[in-house]
Amino acid sequence: MSLKAAAAAVRENAHAPYSNFKVGAAIRSASGQIYVGCNVENVAYPEGTCAEAGAIAAMVAAGEKELAEVYVIADCPSPITPCGGCRQKIKEFGTGDVKVIMATTDGAEQETTIGDLLPGAFDTDHMERS
Ligand code: THU
Repeated sequence: MSLKAAAAAVRENAHAPYSNFKVGAAIRSASGQIYVGCNVENVAYPEGTCAEAGAIAAMVAAGEKELAEVYVIADCPSPITPCGGCRQKIKEFGTGDVKVIMATTDGAEQETTIGDLLPGAFDTDHMERS
């Protein structure tokens, strides 16, 4: 299955009764395996989780820690862009050149990299005096 098909399929499972905004994410790890996630909202709003976070958690739970590619899809006027927190989560498991494809359910796609989405990312270099 393609990343696009995997992301579109898992989006259908999103639990988004508060925003009515379903998001699907599919990530390919360095091994080639695909992991998926959808947003899971909660009546206590801050407890909700993003689609990207779910996919990354599935990858790590399976014993993998290296991302190769990310695909995110939602029903929006222009391709969905990962939130700030998810950019940091993606960066944790990939180099700056990890490809991020942002998409709409209408078929529009925009391709970028995590380096371009999160320039100047906080990383371990900033903690080297600690
Ligand atoms: N959401 C994601 O799942 N991923 C993103 O990159 C942006 C936002 C979710 C969180 C919330 O459930 C809904 O979209 C509206 O913000």
